[in-house]
Formats: sequence, C-alpha cells, structure tokens
Amino acid sequence: VKTTVSVIKADVGSLPGHSRTHPKLLETAARMLKEAEGSIIIDSHVTHCGDDLELIMTHTRGEDNEEIHKLAWNVFTECARIAKEMKLYGAGQDLLADAFSGNVKGMGPGVAEMEFEERGSDPVLVFMADKTEPGAWNYFLYRIFADPFSTSGLVIDPSMHDGFTFEVHDVIEKRKILFNTPEESYSLLAYIGAPSRYVIKYVWKRNGEIAASTSTQRLNLMAGRYVGKDDPVMVIRAQSGFPSVGEVIDPFRTPILVAGWMRGSHHGPFMPVGVCDANCTAFDGPPRVICLGFQICNGKLIGPADMFDDPAFDRVRDRCCELTDVLRAHGPFEPHRLSLEEMEYTTLPGVEKQFKDRWEDIPE
Ligand code: 13P
Ligand code: 13P
Ligand code: MG
Ligand code: MG
Ligand code: MG
Ligand code: MG
Repeated sequence: VKTTVSVIKADVGSLPGHSRTHPKLLETAARMLKEAEGSIIIDSHVTHCGDDLELIMTHTRGEDNEEIHKLAWNVFTECARIAKEMKLYGAGQDLLADAFSGNVKGMGPGVAEMEFEERGSDPVLVFMADKTEPGAWNYFLYRIFADPFSTSGLVIDPSMHDGFTFEVHDVIEKRKILFNTPEESYSLLAYIGAPSRYVIKYVWKRNGEIAASTSTQRLNLMAGRYVGKDDPVMVIRAQSGFPSVGEVIDPFRTPILVAGWMRGSHHGPFMPVGVCDANCTAFDGPPRVICLGFQICNGKLIGPADMFDDPAFDRVRDRCCELTDVLRAHGPFEPHRLSLEEMEYTTLPGVEKQFKDRWEDIPE
C-alpha cells in the first residue's frame, strides 16, 4: 500500500498584522489533526511559516482526496473562526470560498502532495515559505535536480545519472508541459526563469518515480483582487536515487531575490530560517523559508528535524540582511517594487484609477 504526504496551508489570521500565526490556532489545528489520526490520516505535524498555518499529513488515500481536503478545510475554517473572535489580522484571509466543494484547490489554500511506495528508508523534506509566490521554488528545484555544480550525485551516482523530468505549469494560460533534463535544460530555463508565470509543479525520476511536488495556486489570479501572496509549500524526497538531504538544502545558501514581501509588491531576499525565526518582521519580511526533515516509516512521520536551524546557514542570513538594506534603499522604486505587469495584481491599480481622467494626450 502506498503512502501519501499531503501538505496543505492557509493564512487564516495572524498577529500583529501579517507577521505570525497565533499559538491558539496552532494548538487547535494540531488537536483537530490528532483526532483524525487512526481514521482519516495516519500521522500529522502542524507548524507555521510567518502568518501561514501549515498542515503536514500522511495517509493512504492518494492525492486530491476529498476526505483529506475536507479535513484541512474544516481545520482552516475552525481556526478562522477563532481568529475572527480574537480579531486577528486578516482572519480567514486565504479562504476564498464559503463552503467546501470536494477539493481545496481553487478555494484559497495551497496544496503540495505526493503518493509513493515507501523505500527501505524514505527521507522527506517539507519546505514552507512566507511572503512570496510559488515560482520561488523554480530556482531551487533546478539547482537540486538539474545542476551538476550543485548536486554532485547527478554526475557521480549512477542511479541519478539519467536526470529528471520537470512538469511546468503556465499559471496565466492554465496549461502544462514536460521537460527532460539534462538534454532540455536550456529550454526548461527559458520558461522557469520567469517564475511569476511559469511554475514547476512536479519533478520525477526518468522512470516515473515522484521526486518533488509544489503548491502552484495564485491567490490573486483566483480572487481577481489583492489577497496577499500565495506563500507556497514544497515536498521533496531525498537519497537513494534522489539528491541527498544535503544536496537538497545546499542551494538555499544562495541568497536569491523573490517576489512578495511588503504588500505582495516587492522583490526581496529569500531567507532560510529555523522555525523559531519563522516570523515576518522587517518590512513584513524579508521573505522566509523553513524546512522540516522527516523519515517516513509505514506512514508515520519520524521527526521533524528543523533543517535551517543551523550555523551553516548564518552567512546566507547575513547576506539576506545586506540585500535587504540594498533593496530597501530603493524605497518605492523598481526593481525593489515589482514590475508594472506584476503590480496589476496588487493595490496599485486603485491609485491609478484616481488619476485616469487627469491624463492629457501629448500632441505629436
Ligand atoms: P555517511 O558516511 O555519513 O553515511 O555519508 C554518506 C553520504 O552519502 C553523505 O552525503
Ligand atoms: P501574506 O500573504 O503573508 O498575508 O502577506 C500580505 C502582506 O500584505 C504582507 O505585507
Ligand atoms: Mg497574512
Ligand atoms: Mg505523530
Ligand atoms: Mg503569508
Ligand atoms: Mg499569503
């Protein structure tokens, strides 16, 4: 029987502003999932990254299962109810629908799931981010599964030498495409280098075994108005035919810039932190990522290990703080502020509307 790992997340309210999830929401979610262990799910772990409540669940029901999605939806609506009682900020923010209808996809929560036959030993890494968009994973997934200067196993491990298959989603046109690496890596990069539109959804071994799964929902495209950032999650399997745990997390030592941060309208450095530092503070950020490591054992989650709670990641955090200074110095100017095309999904069009009748044509 196969094991499914489901990571489902939503921002249902936080304190103060958009900085962190209230402990009462974490406790409520953990208790509700614990009550479902042994019936709907096998095991669970609840955490937060910034203001996003993260549900990590294991079960045998496969991806897109109605019972699992309904359980997550019930947890989010109960936590949103408590958040409203406490007048937490953005209570119920990511719950775009009033009632559950079979699957949380398209209703606001983010979902990354994978089903697999457990190996003799199955290390799984769960990444969770705040103040950024799903395309933020593109760079790291490329480095992990396609860059031999990053993952030495691509070169020296015969079980990885054939490369991987990437499924890329176009979140604007709602279409998908597969690319095989290494032979199509330049073509893959042609698309995923534009992460606001092209998002890696899955990575597989060339034999079809699942290696990585991400959440790809774009809240603002779904809602048709500004509702914060998507704050994505990702699940990756490691070792024995996949990149090692160290190869999976090493690319996060590079301080790259992602879209999100303040008002979902700015580029900022993506800072890997331990769970104790997963609170968005400076200018509502900078954007953060946590990683919890588990061994999966007959559907049980052995762990977690807090992977970025480590002095080996201190230097990238320092460099992210330096980049924060550089970008913040730009104030309201690009490239700190997102491009006009991306600002379409923020609150800026509301300002432009006020001046639409004051513009005059310039004579030729
Ligand atoms: P160990 O000898 O510590 O098990 O290391 C093996 C390995 O492959 C590290 O990446
Ligand atoms: P969230 O998507 O994390 O709620 O961020 C919204 C925001 O406006 C931060 O400044
Ligand atoms: Mg929020
Ligand atoms: Mg448990
Ligand atoms: Mg958030
Ligand atoms: Mg958000």
